[in-house]
Amino acid sequence: MTNNQPAPDGVMRLINGYWNTGIIGAAATHSVFTHLENGAGTAAEVAARAEISERGAQSLLDGLVSVGLAVLQDGRYRNTPEASAFLVDGKPASLAGFAKLKLQHLHSVTDLPEVVRVGGPLAGGETEVADNPHWEGIVPAIAAVSVPAAHVGVEALGIADAGEISILDVGGGSGIYSSIWLKANPAARAVQLDWEPINKIALRLVAEHGVADRFTTVNGDFHTTDFGTAAYDIAVYSHIAHQESPESNIEVFTRFREALKPGGALVIADYVVDDDRSGPAFPLLFALEMLLKSKEGGTWRRSDYHDWLVKAGFEDISFHAAPPATVVIAR
Ligand SMILES: C[S@@+](CC[C@H](N)C(=O)[O-])C[C@H]1O[C@@H](n2cnc3c(N)ncnc32)[C@H](O)[C@@H]1O
Repeated sequence: MTNNQPAPDGVMRLINGYWNTGIIGAAATHSVFTHLENGAGTAAEVAARAEISERGAQSLLDGLVSVGLAVLQDGRYRNTPEASAFLVDGKPASLAGFAKLKLQHLHSVTDLPEVVRVGGPLAGGETEVADNPHWEGIVPAIAAVSVPAAHVGVEALGIADAGEISILDVGGGSGIYSSIWLKANPAARAVQLDWEPINKIALRLVAEHGVADRFTTVNGDFHTTDFGTAAYDIAVYSHIAHQESPESNIEVFTRFREALKPGGALVIADYVVDDDRSGPAFPLLFALEMLLKSKEGGTWRRSDYHDWLVKAGFEDISFHAAPPATVVIAR
């Protein structure tokens, strides 16, 4: 083989990509990132603290080095800066719960060849079902995914100094936006519209953040529940637009415009793709998740959001990075 010829190792790694999910999910399950953070540095030390076999610990550590989440130096392992920031238990932006959730979802990709053939979810695979228990596992795990976008909102909207504002979070899930925004602004109040079992979870999680006295919930389907008129300073629609069709997004954005006071802001967080669909990488990948799980969803382009928001009556539209998501703010 000459140097000009491609080598198979990159393709081999991609074919075996499910091991990324397996290794990170197993390490998160046994809090390996947390033990490394707290000073365990060898397979024996990790095994003792995690109460797993030493052979298993050594294999996991090899895997973590392989996927670039741990480094080995002078015979001791430690987290990379990324693993330390995003995979240690208890940190606000920890994705450890999300890693465990994704390990449970691993089997679903075996449906993908058929899903691609038919152009949508197989029977029972779609998420657009009232009170779908699917969300109960997901919303606590994905709360951390929305933390960076919520902080972008705090900065971009000057929430801390905005005084007595009212906030509407549609499909708020864990209530993470309310938790962060009500903590940033002690005079703000928030209402979350979501399914009843999810609102119960949100009430518990928002209470853990100490701001439940200014947080209320409305149970129901956002397609059919009235959002009100000129009632809110800020509205949020985070990681929902991707499950909806273009027509539904225009309809919902129009009701958001009506629900906002004049000058009020709609905050949309989602995985947004470039207009020519050349990137970014994660939003492109997420389009497959929507093919697998939603009848009409997708990862929509910046120009889609812009067009839909203009049709809904918004005039001032800006895009803010919260990788891998994008925050769209419309007034
Ligand atoms: C992907 S989660 C996003 C949660 C939260 N907004 C966030 O970004 O962390 C989607 C949320 O929308 C809610 N949801 C989906 N369809 C809904 C509907 N038709 N009516 C009310 N809530 C819905 C789900 O229960 C879930 O809480």
